[in-house]
Amino acid sequence: MNTPTSPELTDTDIAGLVQSDRVDVSLYTDPEQFELEMDRIFDRTWVWVAHESEIPNAGDFRTAMVGRQPVIVTRDRRGGINVLLNRCRHRGASLCEVPRGNANGFTCPYHAWSYALDGKLRGIPYPDGYEDVLEKKDLPLHRLKVDSYAGMIFASVNHDVEPLSDFLGPAKRWIDLFMKQGAGYPIKVQGEHKFRFNGNWKIQLENTTDGYHFPIVHRSWMSSVDEETADMLSFMTDEKALTHSLGNGHSVMIMVPEHVDLDEDDGTEQLQERFGHIVEELSKEFDPAKVRRIVRSMHGAGFNLNLFPNVAMSMSFFRVLRPVSVTETEIRHLALGLDGAPEVVNRERLRIHEHFQGPFGFGTTDDSEAWDRVQRGAAAGPGLPIMVNRGLGRERDESKGRVSHATDETGMREAYTMWKAMMTDVR
Ligand code: FES
Ligand code: FE
Repeated sequence: MNTPTSPELTDTDIAGLVQSDRVDVSLYTDPEQFELEMDRIFDRTWVWVAHESEIPNAGDFRTAMVGRQPVIVTRDRRGGINVLLNRCRHRGASLCEVPRGNANGFTCPYHAWSYALDGKLRGIPYPDGYEDVLEKKDLPLHRLKVDSYAGMIFASVNHDVEPLSDFLGPAKRWIDLFMKQGAGYPIKVQGEHKFRFNGNWKIQLENTTDGYHFPIVHRSWMSSVDEETADMLSFMTDEKALTHSLGNGHSVMIMVPEHVDLDEDDGTEQLQERFGHIVEELSKEFDPAKVRRIVRSMHGAGFNLNLFPNVAMSMSFFRVLRPVSVTETEIRHLALGLDGAPEVVNRERLRIHEHFQGPFGFGTTDDSEAWDRVQRGAAAGPGLPIMVNRGLGRERDESKGRVSHATDETGMREAYTMWKAMMTDVR
């Protein structure tokens, strides 16, 4: 859609920036690389835009960004999902600047051209000047390619992009598992908050499967919770806690291995104790087995799934990144509840979310301080590379990808392998 940037950097230059154990610090600071990333990654592949639970009814919409492109994700009258470029076909004004809502269509604030939920141009005021000049049917809003998997809606500027199912590949198994975390209740978005940090988008991309930082950066969180909750840090030395590379830049870090197998009912004693107040309330309505399953769901899926390039599914929330500039990134956190579950369950899930990932939660503030510091260090210029070599010596190849411990940098190496492939393989 955009005229591709004319690069000074050759493909050979770019390829040299990413080694198997390190990346060049210019990946965080070079504006030319940032523009190329928009052309070669965000304008070319699938980018996550919304969850279906955010737009359940006809007329529901939410706005989002696909790289540089502002879009509106809509549910039309026939139930179809549309991802429309948020730019009027007259002189390009943005049509909608609220995050979400319900509407019959969109009317441009400049000269009031109006569009249907599926993007068709419906009305033009004072149409006499347009006789023999235009046909409304020729000027719908520009549509992005759209597809969804397990309620996750992705869009692509590139209409020749590979099928979404192929792009997700082995990550689909983990998406399926994530969606099953809710004891039979479907996952739904309960709310969203966003913030920006002064750093490159890939610093956050790295963080999702960075188990290594957890006991260091999140020490303040640990000191704020009970012993049982802090005990989840046992993953640091649990040999079943692994990170798998899943191809196409995707990876999964398993922090609570016993929660991944939903058929097993172990490891929940501590949770039953911790959530005793909920157990009591739920026991009035459900049998003990169902109560155990619901309480177990309070811990989320037990793993972090990183989907290249812009969404993470973590424990019980989605984290969506948007590159704003080479040194600025916007993060959206979507808190996840269980559709149809007792109110006490979703209320408690929100409290857990607020405590760690909420705007004033321990996790978000501590993480973003660390990310800012990485960017400030990077501003010192070339000379010192960014190391992503932890666990290289114990990484092993398995049929579906590379595997190493959950504290290792396997997920980062997977993301940078994809970054390099997309940035140099100009299709
Ligand atoms: Fe939208 Fe003129 S720019 S109607
Ligand atoms: Fe963190």
